[in-house]
Amino acid sequence: MSGKIAAFHDFEPIQDDFRTAVLNGLSSPQKSIPSKFFYDEKGSGLFDRICHLEEYYPTRTELGILQKYGKEIAHFTGERTHLIEFGSGSSTKIQTLLDAINKPLSYIPMDISKEHLLEAAKNLAARFPEIPVIAICADYTSDFQFPALVPGKRTGFFPGSTIGNFAPKEAADFLKQTRQLLNGGNLLIGVDLVKDHNVLFQAYNDQEGVTAQFNLNILARCNAELSANFVIDNFEHHAPYNETQNRIEMHLVSKTDQIVSVGGNTFSFKAGESIHTENSYKYTIEGFQKLASDAGYKSSKAWIDEQSLFSVHFLSSSEEPS
Ligand SMILES: C[S@@+](CC[C@H](N)C(=O)[O-])C[C@H]1O[C@@H](n2cnc3c(N)ncnc32)[C@H](O)[C@@H]1O
Repeated sequence: MSGKIAAFHDFEPIQDDFRTAVLNGLSSPQKSIPSKFFYDEKGSGLFDRICHLEEYYPTRTELGILQKYGKEIAHFTGERTHLIEFGSGSSTKIQTLLDAINKPLSYIPMDISKEHLLEAAKNLAARFPEIPVIAICADYTSDFQFPALVPGKRTGFFPGSTIGNFAPKEAADFLKQTRQLLNGGNLLIGVDLVKDHNVLFQAYNDQEGVTAQFNLNILARCNAELSANFVIDNFEHHAPYNETQNRIEMHLVSKTDQIVSVGGNTFSFKAGESIHTENSYKYTIEGFQKLASDAGYKSSKAWIDEQSLFSVHFLSSSEEPS
């Protein structure tokens, strides 16, 4: 299903960003690659497959909360608002809100993964032809010129517990930035909760190995875009729960001593040494509300599912829109 989007703004990070991040990350004592680089076209497709896995409870649980409380959430957002989604992926969850909210002024999906964003935006425009869809390809942590919008309040939507990919201090800084971009508007945000470690472990270590493919794909992307020569089979997916930090960590562990070249630079790996590719922090309700308050938001409401797996928070900004 393909519809017509009202506008597309392209601030796709230049390839040099990826090269610099990989070269810097692989030069650190704990090698690392930032998780935002998971999301090329293949990575976004693999993430969609993860969302349908039995073990991966966050997607269906968050969607269940949005479906169950959609009308109440719409009461909080009010009518005639621009809806700006950070890291919109396939724009699936927003559809529940667009069904519930009265006359949104526009839907603005923002994502780093260009092809995937455009396809999702066109599908959404076909399903909601009366709502202007303004797609923005950008790294939401970067400085970019947010387009002018017709006057009206702005409501942010940040589902998928993507906030958990930031360390808590960075998460508070990012939330502060959203307050500026939302011009004093409110933010609806999905946050994964601290829970039984085994449930968390299974969610990132699925039987079918889709999360492993997703993690390893970042090496294939280095090979394709940075003239690297990673032998993918020489690395394996490792995703333990770090209890002290309340976070799942994703790593790619070298199975052997090896030397890898990335665009003419060489990096040596000892067997067992890892590249740290992602953190996914888990919060308690109170812990996340404290973080939101540090960022200047007021927690107006938190909805959780019956098993207390996942939470959706409505954060209000006290400032008047300028
Ligand atoms: C965990 S997925 C969540 C997708 C979707 N919102 C959901 O709830 O299922 C994270 C999404 O954020 C996007 N993303 C990650 N880092 C980003 C960044 N720095 N700037 C823009 N988009 C980013 C990814 O491309 C991906 O679509």
